[in-house]
Amino acid sequence: MKKITIAFDGHSSCGKSTMAKTLAEKLGYLYVDTGAMYRAVTLYALRNGIMDGKSKTIDEAALQNVIGSIEITQKREDGKVRTYLNGECVETEIRQMEVSSCVSPIAALGFVRKQLVACQQQMGKDGGIVMDGRDIGTVVFPHAELKVFVTASAEVRAQRRLAELQAKGDTKLTLAEVQKNIEERDYIDSHREVTPLVQAPDALLLDNSNLTIEQQNEMVLEWARKAMQK
Ligand code: DC
Repeated sequence: MKKITIAFDGHSSCGKSTMAKTLAEKLGYLYVDTGAMYRAVTLYALRNGIMDGKSKTIDEAALQNVIGSIEITQKREDGKVRTYLNGECVETEIRQMEVSSCVSPIAALGFVRKQLVACQQQMGKDGGIVMDGRDIGTVVFPHAELKVFVTASAEVRAQRRLAELQAKGDTKLTLAEVQKNIEERDYIDSHREVTPLVQAPDALLLDNSNLTIEQQNEMVLEWARKAMQK
């Protein structure tokens, strides 16, 4: 069967990554989490004094100088996809709240996007890939055979995210704080000047507020099968 390119875009914390990863596994395709790549750049900037975590100011000239030399890779290990920054596994660090609250301004920088988009296009040049992010169906792979745009209400997303954080032992945050962070990220992601988050005209919309994980997995697998037969 034809090896196609599948683009997953949508809002934060709507279960997009889990769904995309499951689909990639079922199809035997490569899975790439592009949000993790923006998170890894953010972690690098925070660790190296290029971004101030409190004021969220960024030394853009310093970041521009090093962006080409930051190496970000993803490996599937024991069924999990882990992100590496210059050879170090940073999967835990990039999911922490400090990175989550600083990543949107980093992802709004044109030169950061240019660098990461080129890298993503290279990863997917042979097809057989499921890539998830915000601009995959619009910018990275505008000719993807299947584009899925995932969303859910902000409240449902906050509840899911909080449960995820609590499962990892991070119980300090309230539901209201998590929802605020999600709404802030939605706002910045949808209103930034450079490639804001928009649904591609030919993307299939999946609102999973009232769907079980199994139902949504079934739905996208069916869409993928149809796209492969075209
Ligand atoms: O999917 P995520 O929450 O891990 O993404 C982290 C941030 O990166 C989020 O603020 C949106 C941004 N992002 C982006 O601008 N473009 C992408 N392709 C992926 C993520």
